[in-house]
Amino acid sequence: MRVQSLLVALSAVILPTCAQNNTAWPFQTFRSLPGFEPPQLEITQNASAAPGLIFFPISGDGAHNYSLNIYDQDGELVWQSGYGDYAAFRPTELFGEPVLAAWSGISFPEPWGFGYGIVKIFNQNYENIYNVTLWNTTYPTLESIYPEYDPTQYDPFSWIDMHENNITPRGTMFVGAVNVTAWDLTSIGGPEDGWIVDSLVLELNVTNSEILWQWSHLAHVDHIPLTDAVPTYPLGELGQNQSYPWGPFHINSVDEFEDGSLLVSSRHYCSIFKIGRDGEVQWTLNGYSGGDFTLKNDLHFCYQHDARIHSENSSTTLISIFNNDNSAVVSYVNQTTGIFLSVNTDTKEATLVKELYDPSEPIYAVSQGDHQLLSNGHSIMGYGSVPFLKEFDKHGNVVQTVKWGQAQAVQSYRTYKSQWVGTPSTRPDVFACAESNATTSVHMSWNGATEHQSWKVLAGSSREGLRNVTDVKKTGFETSASISGHAQFVQVEAHGDGIKTVASTVVAIAEAC
Ligand SMILES: *[C@@H]1O[C@H](CO)[C@@H](O)[C@H](O)[C@H]1NC(C)=O
Ligand SMILES: *[C@@H]1O[C@H](CO)[C@@H](O)[C@H](O)[C@H]1NC(C)=O
Ligand SMILES: *[C@@H]1O[C@H](CO)[C@@H](O)[C@H](O)[C@H]1NC(C)=O
Ligand SMILES: *[C@@H]1O[C@H](CO)[C@@H](O)[C@H](O)[C@H]1NC(C)=O
Ligand SMILES: *[C@@H]1O[C@H](CO)[C@@H](O)[C@H](O)[C@H]1NC(C)=O
Ligand SMILES: *[C@@H]1O[C@H](CO)[C@@H](O)[C@H](O)[C@H]1NC(C)=O
Ligand SMILES: *[C@@H]1O[C@H](CO)[C@@H](O)[C@H](O)[C@H]1NC(C)=O
Ligand SMILES: *[C@@H]1O[C@H](CO)[C@@H](O)[C@H](O)[C@H]1NC(C)=O
Ligand SMILES: *[C@@H]1O[C@H](CO)[C@@H](O)[C@H](O)[C@H]1NC(C)=O
Ligand SMILES: *[C@@H]1O[C@H](CO)[C@@H](O)[C@H](O)[C@H]1NC(C)=O
Ligand SMILES: *[C@@H]1O[C@H](CO)[C@@H](O)[C@H](O)[C@H]1NC(C)=O
Ligand SMILES: *[C@@H]1O[C@H](CO)[C@@H](O)[C@H](O)[C@H]1NC(C)=O
Repeated sequence: MRVQSLLVALSAVILPTCAQNNTAWPFQTFRSLPGFEPPQLEITQNASAAPGLIFFPISGDGAHNYSLNIYDQDGELVWQSGYGDYAAFRPTELFGEPVLAAWSGISFPEPWGFGYGIVKIFNQNYENIYNVTLWNTTYPTLESIYPEYDPTQYDPFSWIDMHENNITPRGTMFVGAVNVTAWDLTSIGGPEDGWIVDSLVLELNVTNSEILWQWSHLAHVDHIPLTDAVPTYPLGELGQNQSYPWGPFHINSVDEFEDGSLLVSSRHYCSIFKIGRDGEVQWTLNGYSGGDFTLKNDLHFCYQHDARIHSENSSTTLISIFNNDNSAVVSYVNQTTGIFLSVNTDTKEATLVKELYDPSEPIYAVSQGDHQLLSNGHSIMGYGSVPFLKEFDKHGNVVQTVKWGQAQAVQSYRTYKSQWVGTPSTRPDVFACAESNATTSVHMSWNGATEHQSWKVLAGSSREGLRNVTDVKKTGFETSASISGHAQFVQVEAHGDGIKTVASTVVAIAEAC
């Protein structure tokens, strides 16, 4: 549940009011699953686009349905989760098996930009096999930050932030968390009895949520001083009280170096940090000043997301980021880009290797976003507060653009492209109705299923007396068939090479369509 009342109350105080366009983005409807109204995708692509399915969550003021979504590249829905306030959603692996991971909980929009929730893990049958949670009584009570908090809505309650859910091959997960805490802000011109958002990095055991390691920004302000955040994240009116704390670090991604140390991205410091397992800050790369490095080849970045390590040796690490140097406060300044950079700890140089953007369609994401490197060398960019995907080939040419909402009205925290085999443990859904006394139409779908190729329709005048009436090819998320005659009951079966046949329940045919 998004905190609407708090947002409304706050927008009068701090947020500039943002006029919404009333034009609704077109959405699809299905007879077999009436509640599902996913957006239509607008797709432009050429033959170079990589294969795979597209994964994104949907939220935002203009979102028709808050949900997790998987589509194919013809714009057909593959799976929708049903309603939920979700953020980090990704296809990934747990113990070598494909899984989906999604954050779910209560999220506070800017100027907080953090959330409290759990990470749900789903297997290929879309069964929720694990919830990764963080419970520690030394965090403040939520009621003190958000008085309207209703604990019955969030069971289990957990303190995991919405930004990160990065699973390791050993079955652990890196997450972020925030601790709103009293802090002396006089060093940056704020009150002595001020309030700050501490950012924590944790490694949790996915199977039992045990905390294996944790790190706190405020325990390391000697190396990451508050004053360094002020140029890119001024205090403004924040920090005066517990409800409006100042959040200088704003952790949004965690990745692991070969030696076990961590690459941590701080949006508001406009920096990425290498942090050892002893908690020490080994280096700081600031996107404007360079920090410990000299910036080469016109490298600059800020408000970045999704810092990932792609290769490393004793001197050099190749890193990708989603570069949103478009200001956290002001927008439409520098267009959002995807960048690759190399960090050389011998020469103390950080060098721009490649920068990706579409010259024919500049995008100004205000928040969120990701940059995924595919195995064929292509880059997928998901633009967060602008619900678009762009795929770039190795040379930086755009080979695919996908859109599913209006900029700023709909948001999708991160967007991925990946192969995925879905074998739902639920049954197919069917709706049938009499078009006339001579014809019955049958609409069938199987949410999440990727492997069946055809449908068999059975119909009859009693539940027990069904017979095969037709076979039809699967044509998309929902397949429709027309059968002659006016039967009373219908059932459908999903068929495919090498898969077990699964049947819907037997349903009564509606008298009218
Ligand atoms: C509304 O539409 C105008 C004109 O197309 C556009 O400039 C603006 O960004 C849109 N606003 C939102 C919130 O989508
Ligand atoms: C796809 O589009 C890009 C950019 O316009 C172009 O460089 C590339 O050759 C195209 N590929 C194919 C297979 O059409
Ligand atoms: C999608 O939105 C429609 C219209 O608001 C609503 O009736 C439906 O219940 C929603 N479905 C889900 C899955 O949220
Ligand atoms: C995860 O939490 C949800 C409530 O948000 C609950 O319904 C579900 O059973 C939990 N799953 C597991 C594996 O504990
Ligand atoms: C809770 O957090 C505090 C402060 O970081 C830490 O010292 C303590 O070990 C944590 N407790 C548990 C049960 O994880
Ligand atoms: C949160 O901050 C308080 C101080 O306000 C501290 O006592 C507590 O240990 C912190 N919790 C964690 C999990 O860091
Ligand atoms: C995670 O917990 C399970 C179950 O207790 C345990 O078998 C496994 O070794 C733990 N993994 C790590 C990395 O601690
Ligand atoms: C907290 O600070 C904000 C911003 O300065 C202010 O608008 C709000 O009224 C304050 N709330 C309380 C309870 O003092
Ligand atoms: C490390 O990798 C960089 C970039 O690929 C390369 O230029 C350099 O020669 C490598 N250094 C070593 C010591 O392998
Ligand atoms: C935009 O880019 C320029 C350098 O190209 C930089 O000086 C500026 O700070 C960037 N960001 C904003 C929000 O202006
Ligand atoms: C089916 O036939 C009956 C009797 O002739 C008629 O009343 C009814 O309207 C017809 N139904 C449809 C759906 O055409
Ligand atoms: C329908 O056809 C399948 C073979 O395609 C057969 O296994 C099944 O028994 C038939 N069902 C009925 C009710 O005739």
